[in-house]
This record gives sequence, structure tokens and C-alpha cells, in this order.
Amino acid sequence: MKFVILTDTHFVPRGSKIYGLDPAERLTAAVDRINRDHTDIAFVIVTGDLAHWGEDGAYENLASVLFRLNAPTILLMGNHDKRDPFGRHFPGVGRDPSGFVQAVHSFDAATVVTLDTLNEAAPDHAGLLCEARLAFLEHALASAPGDRPLLVFQHHPPFDTGLRYMDGIKLANPEAEWDVIARTRKPDYLFMGHLHRPISGLWRGIPFHIQRALAHQVAFDFKTADHIPGSHEQPDYSHVTVSAGRVVIHQCSFLYDGPLFSLQDRAALEWIGR
Ligand SMILES: [Fe+2]
Repeated sequence: MKFVILTDTHFVPRGSKIYGLDPAERLTAAVDRINRDHTDIAFVIVTGDLAHWGEDGAYENLASVLFRLNAPTILLMGNHDKRDPFGRHFPGVGRDPSGFVQAVHSFDAATVVTLDTLNEAAPDHAGLLCEARLAFLEHALASAPGDRPLLVFQHHPPFDTGLRYMDGIKLANPEAEWDVIARTRKPDYLFMGHLHRPISGLWRGIPFHIQRALAHQVAFDFKTADHIPGSHEQPDYSHVTVSAGRVVIHQCSFLYDGPLFSLQDRAALEWIGR
């Protein structure tokens, strides 16, 4: 199974910009590339912060761009999202019995569990898995078929990464999530957004991938603690292959428009290297 990950699209109404960038322009470029190069993917998943302010116009704009995508989409909530306006423009997106935007997607090659860590009442953008959402997670992990990989997606990481301000607005109750995992099943891979930087590693034995944002980036800065340092580094999407116990993740800098050449081409070698 192959799929593509995008995150933190931070949409605003059509024609508007956020931090000097037009998210619709960027997503359109990603959609064009995905439609052209990845015709065999099962889905495109967007791991939250779909909109920046969470207003109707932003979700309307997002829906119009995603409509052009040939592959199905799986959408998650992030701390910038608002469930009601989102629901008005994406009425087909599944919710759990409590109304949270989370679901289990069953494929032959893997089980995909999406969690809703949005806490609309939080004053600071931290995430939360309340009792209802933890109960959903428990059932999802316990009932996932044991003969295929279990992939869990959520917006907020449940651990620190060293980006100091962001560490203060991670998932507010990581121990509660871990308790559920410890008594049911460890995911084979954990995928997240929120940090706007590409980060990978291991959390309590679970390999994880944090996707770089589509919109504005967070700078590589371990010192700043009183605000989020931003940057305009280039965005990526990830292309993931899950096959026979193998998970391979490639990141594609889809806005790159520089030279493409053969490394065996002597003329190119001289042009680049001398
Ligand atoms: Fe974000």
C-alpha cells in the first residue's frame, strides 16, 4: 500500500495569505504533483491544522483545492481547526460516536487509526485526548487485526522534541495515551504534524514520523522559548510504502524547480563541482 502525507495546510479564505504565503497555491502545486506522479496511492492524509483560523471561508477554499485530487483523502483535526465549520464543508468525513473527527480505516495492507487531539477550549493550542477519545483509541488498538501493520495518526506529539515553545503545547496528557497503548497494542508507526518540521525517531519503542508543514515552517532552533520561531523553508509531502513488514518514507520537495541531471553526466559533474 502506498499513500501520501501532508500536514498543517493552515488554509485561509481564497486569495488571502498567512505569514506572506498562499496555502492554496502550495496545495495546488502538491495536488498537481501527486496526481501526476502517484497514481497508485490508496489515499492522501492531512494530519491537522487544515485551516489557520478555522472559519468557513478557509474550509471552503480547502475543499475546492482538494476536490482536484484524484486520490481519496483522510483528514484530521489540529489545534487551529474548528469542528463545526469543518463539518459544514466536509460533511462526508467520518466521526466517532462522540462527534470527534477520528476513525479506523481498514486496508488489506495496514490498519489506519486517526485521532482527534483538538481541544477547542485550550487557551494555548495544546492537544488533548479526553476519556471518550481514549476509549475510542483503546477499542481501535485492541480490535485491529494482528496480521497487518497498525498505523496511528494524530496532530499533537505526546512527547518533547527540543523545540521549546512547541514542547509546551504538545499533547497535554501523554501518559493517558501511553497507558492505553501499554495495555492494548503498540502501533507499528506513529505519524504526526503540529511541529512544522521534519522529525523522526522512537517514542517508547514506537517509530515516529513528524511531517514538515505545507504552509509556513518552524525554524530549527532549540533556544527560543517565548515564541515560535518561524521560517520560509520549502515544504514537503511524504510518500509512504507499506509492504511485507517494510515501511519506507520518502520526502518530496515538490516546489523545487532547480536543475535535474544525471550524476554520471561528465558535463554536469564539471558544472556542479569545479
Ligand atoms: Fe500548524
